[in-house]
Amino acid sequence: MVDTSDIRREYGLGELRRSHLDACPHQQFDVWLQQAIKSRKIVDPTAMTLSTVSLDNFPTGRIVLLKRHDHGAFRFFTNYTSDKAEDINFNSNVSLSFAWLELERQVIISGEATRLSPEDNALYFESRPRASQIAAWASFQSANAASREELDERYAACEKEFEGKKIPCPEFWGGYDVTAHSIEFWQGRLGRLHDRFRYTRTELGWDLERINP
Ligand SMILES: Cc1cc2nc3c(=O)[nH]c(=O)nc-3n(C[C@H](O)[C@H](O)[C@H](O)COP(=O)(O)O)c2cc1C
Repeated sequence: MVDTSDIRREYGLGELRRSHLDACPHQQFDVWLQQAIKSRKIVDPTAMTLSTVSLDNFPTGRIVLLKRHDHGAFRFFTNYTSDKAEDINFNSNVSLSFAWLELERQVIISGEATRLSPEDNALYFESRPRASQIAAWASFQSANAASREELDERYAACEKEFEGKKIPCPEFWGGYDVTAHSIEFWQGRLGRLHDRFRYTRTELGWDLERINP
């Protein structure tokens, strides 16, 4: 047993006011993302928890990396036969959350995931290191694996198969763009009276509300 009830700290680095926020949550997200990257305090500033819901209504969260934020969409790449992809096939509503704890900030995005085109997948796949390309072919992501050896052997077999050749993007591998319905920005404050603002998409643009902490 590990008693963690005494582990706590105060959050006092900053504050968030309506006047600080851009009218567009995507612009606001870019400001915070740039600050997270430039702070050099955050090991993986692009790491985000992707939450999906399964066919039998169980939620699962796991980390994926943001690879692009553009035209109002948040992009990540994965295996299209993975559990997360299966969940998205059934229910394309997902949540993405960033925990930039060193800046005492959190961003929660709620939206809809759609697959990228094979052309976009191929374009990004080409930019990946060769080892990652081989791993994409070698991993049946989310399926049971008999042993580490089995994985290593499959990797070695793929490496041999593609020796001296350009590695194509597997059909079972690619990205999603998440189009946001709402985006919440959270800044920790002293005494747990944190600042929260949530943008919600409307027909005309975005509503912005302060939310109780
Ligand atoms: C820092 C970090 C980054 C990760 N990035 C990705 C990623 O970009 N894409 C991905 O498919 N899995 C990534 N993973 C692995 C996933 O968290 C997860 O284990 C995997 O995608 C299988 O998830 P699923 O079985 O729920 O589909 C990452 C894990 C960590 C800890």
